Amino acid sequence: MSRIETIGDATLYLGDCRDVLPQFEERFDALVTDPPYGIKENNARNLSRDRLARATDYGHFEWDDETAVEALTLATCHAHWQIIFGGNYYDLGPTSCWLVWDKMNSGDFADCELAWTNLPKAVRRLQYLWNGMIKAPGETRGDHPTQKPVGVMKWALQQLPLAEKPRVLDPFMGSGTTGVACTQLGLRFVGIEREAKYFDAACRRIAEAHKQPRLFDEPEQKPVTVGELFALPSDVYKVR
Ligand SMILES: C[S@@+](CC[C@H](N)C(=O)[O-])C[C@H]1O[C@@H](n2cnc3c(N)ncnc32)[C@H](O)[C@@H]1O
Repeated sequence: MSRIETIGDATLYLGDCRDVLPQFEERFDALVTDPPYGIKENNARNLSRDRLARATDYGHFEWDDETAVEALTLATCHAHWQIIFGGNYYDLGPTSCWLVWDKMNSGDFADCELAWTNLPKAVRRLQYLWNGMIKAPGETRGDHPTQKPVGVMKWALQQLPLAEKPRVLDPFMGSGTTGVACTQLGLRFVGIEREAKYFDAACRRIAEAHKQPRLFDEPEQKPVTVGELFALPSDVYKVR
């Protein structure tokens, strides 16, 4: 590991998560991550897509050539609750709760992305625009070839049944979107990334988020019981 940066409640490690994770003795409250999907996403493929505007040139990269089964398995041992984007590319077992992000897309990209979770609740869906250059207001991209929108990661974090100020782990941090979302929500964050250029982008983005005043306090996150999570609105089950 060659660098550790602390920015507010976020601690960022430059290194391979298989080397960094064994040093954490305490379990994290949640693993919220977006590991390589192993779909051989690369710059040539990115640049060749049909679009209205010129695609960003991210240079050569190979980190998506295969899934990261060993590293992800290790990471799952380090956290109680788990939200894993691209979980449909891993063998994670049956679950009641997939998170479905509907990108309101057209063209060559997938219509939706899926996150596997171990949350004791039903499937949830978010419609959040991310269609080439056309994206939800306030979102930026260009730091990472598979960058996630901050709004999507905030929504995912808000699905967690957590006590106040939980500690969130992202061992495949990329450009730090999970960390930006945690900072905006006032959550503690630990991120790990092994490529220096993405690590630098994460440091910059999380520092910018840390400098932004929070205009209003997010609603307090109280622990939720399993019963509450499965409760239906009374008009759905009332007897006529
Ligand atoms: C899908 S990208 C994450 C993108 C991120 N969600 C964002 O918004 O920028 C996965 C990242 O995991 C990193 N990675 C892959 N294997 C790793 C490992 N063993 N340890 C640390 N980082 C790893 C890659 O360099 C890549 O940046």
